[in-house]
Amino acid sequence: MISCYKTRVRLFGPVLLSIMMVINGCEPVAEHPKVDAYKFEKPGHFPEPTYTLRNNQVNEKGFKLGKRLFNDPSLSRDGSISCSSCHVQSSAFADISLHPFSFGVEDREGKRNAPPLFNLAFHREFFWDGGVTHLDFTPILAFESEIEMDLSFEEVVARINRSADYQTLFKDAFGIEEVTGPYVLHALSQFMLMMVSADSKYDRYIKGDPKALTSLELDGLQLFRQHCESCHQEPLFTDLNYRNNGAQRSITDLGRETVTERMQDRAKFKVPSLRNIEVTSPYMHNARFETLQQVLDHYSDGVTEQLTIDPKVFADGKPVIALTSEEKEKIIAFLKTLTDPGFLSNPIFFNTND
Ligand code: HEC
Ligand code: HEC
Repeated sequence: MISCYKTRVRLFGPVLLSIMMVINGCEPVAEHPKVDAYKFEKPGHFPEPTYTLRNNQVNEKGFKLGKRLFNDPSLSRDGSISCSSCHVQSSAFADISLHPFSFGVEDREGKRNAPPLFNLAFHREFFWDGGVTHLDFTPILAFESEIEMDLSFEEVVARINRSADYQTLFKDAFGIEEVTGPYVLHALSQFMLMMVSADSKYDRYIKGDPKALTSLELDGLQLFRQHCESCHQEPLFTDLNYRNNGAQRSITDLGRETVTERMQDRAKFKVPSLRNIEVTSPYMHNARFETLQQVLDHYSDGVTEQLTIDPKVFADGKPVIALTSEEKEKIIAFLKTLTDPGFLSNPIFFNTND
């Protein structure tokens, strides 16, 4: 059920195993009185979540504790980097730095573009190559990665245990006397699970308001369904599969192959959601494009032959998705209707302690 980077497994293998056992043996967290703003609600037009919420029921205290951990730089080796250094709410929890790749401790440069975070409850696998198969384990990789926070998860938990503040907060949220790894991960997941983005203009249209989209945007939606939908499937705007859309000019990142070790997965990456795409530039795992226009130009004219290129974007020696500039304009207008201002400015995510 759980897998992670083979290359990195040795870094935290024993820790991971003990966590797996504890989490699997975990009793569901006791019911807390629910405050509506802190309750996980599945949007009516979304599929069932893949995350087993009954094992980690989101509640106000757990969520706020998760938020505090998410924003705490003392959980990195040199105290300089928190999750929120690379995952910023105003850009849908993607990175806002001017560099294509995120910078971790000591300004060490990452190798991939930090993806936005939302609707994670509905994903099966995480990271661009799907190397992590449970949301709860994603923070371990961030903490332990030498190019992110560079602190062993054991040390993260030890630092938390040395803080009287955290001890009280964990006791309040989970009723525990000593903080252990699984609870740290559960708190972080509670915070991330609440990042649900489902109230864009597009969603209002889908939920029955015909005036939510202009005629230009509706033309864009139609073109989108014709050319893009097969991979960027509604309503999540991803089919959750791994595909090669030709984002790399020459292959330096093996993508999904790193996880499966199958040649046919070379340079395939998880199809990203296009929700909030207006605020998450740069684009692609390698941050190759800065604008949506460049992305559309790529699909229309830039895709080239590669061993594993998806036949939906390249066939018979040429790009499949041929678009006029007017059509590109319409698709871009539609993509911008996927911005969800209520999510980007929802005060429950603000970095405050109240
Ligand atoms: C230095 C920048 C940086 C920091 C700090 C960081 N991340 Fe990330 N995050 C990334 C990058 C880059 C990826 C993509 C990695 C990949 O695909 O190989 C990522 C991926 C993720 C994903 C997977 C999203 C998806 O759609 O698959 C989650 C969840 C996540 N991070 C949560 C966290 C949490 C929680 C923390 C803090 C414990 C954190 N990140 C700290 C840069 C960062
Ligand atoms: C064959 C499947 C496929 C089709 C068809 C497709 N895409 Fe993609 N798209 C992908 C994959 C895979 C990625 C990520 C590639 C990477 O990073 O290497 C992606 C990335 C993107 C991104 C960047 C997202 C981000 O967060 O970085 C945008 C924007 C995008 N596609 C828009 C479109 C549009 C618009 C269309 C239709 C004109 C389209 N795509 C058609 C598979 C597809």
